[in-house]
Amino acid sequence: MRLRGRKGIREDLERQPELIVLDPKSHRGNWREFFGNDHPIHVELGMGKGKFISEISARNPDINYIGVDMYDELLRKASVKAEQIREAHGGENTDNLALALFNIEDVADVFAERELERIYLNFSDPWPKKKHARRRLTDPRFLAKYKVLLNEWGEIHFKTDSLLLFESSLNAFADMGLRMRGVSLDLHKDGIREDLVLTEYESKFVEKGMNIYRSEVVIGEKALDRHLKALNDRLGPLT
Ligand SMILES: C[S@@+](CC[C@H](N)C(=O)[O-])C[C@H]1O[C@@H](n2cnc3c(N)ncnc32)[C@H](O)[C@@H]1O
Repeated sequence: MRLRGRKGIREDLERQPELIVLDPKSHRGNWREFFGNDHPIHVELGMGKGKFISEISARNPDINYIGVDMYDELLRKASVKAEQIREAHGGENTDNLALALFNIEDVADVFAERELERIYLNFSDPWPKKKHARRRLTDPRFLAKYKVLLNEWGEIHFKTDSLLLFESSLNAFADMGLRMRGVSLDLHKDGIREDLVLTEYESKFVEKGMNIYRSEVVIGEKALDRHLKALNDRLGPLT
């Protein structure tokens, strides 16, 4: 897929090398050097205009965040959003966010094995037609890549308004032998979940009264141990 560009946008993006990453493949295995610390790295694949990644990065200064999209116009909009949200948070926590331009098909060329702690998939395109199912970001061919990139605490956090995508994703997780946690068929049924950061699409859908489906997927060895122990404590011995 070709990366779209419009005159002037590239120049805007090139002026912000501390935030915008136009050559993400060159950082593979070295993202810690980009951030200048060894804090965990959380990535949103398909960030759109960047509301979620900007807000969550401002709230959590000890985690490094990377928002990914394949359209440079969206990166430009996300950079403006990041600036606004940083100002709203008092201008602090400015160095734990990067916005990267690439096609998620190439995710394994951008991140090395076990380089990531969490992947957010927020309102990914549902690709409802069967002939396009392979393009869904929860298709097993993508999940196989994510598994390699996630570390011992690795998890995927997935939200969608599409029941079709949700069902096909749960089946893909199960087919891959992955553990799901906190599955919800109506995330905000008791009011907006203040502990979670809402995305741009989510805010619109919630306003319209639509259901939001959510699941976390527990992948890393330590995350899995902790999850199974919590389940055991709550439910008794698991078979
Ligand atoms: C429906 S929007 C959701 C945006 C945001 N996560 C939210 O919840 O508001 C999906 C986004 O994923 C991006 N996207 C879809 N497929 C992609 C791909 N293969 N590589 C990079 N970005 C992609 C689109 O450009 C779009 O911005």
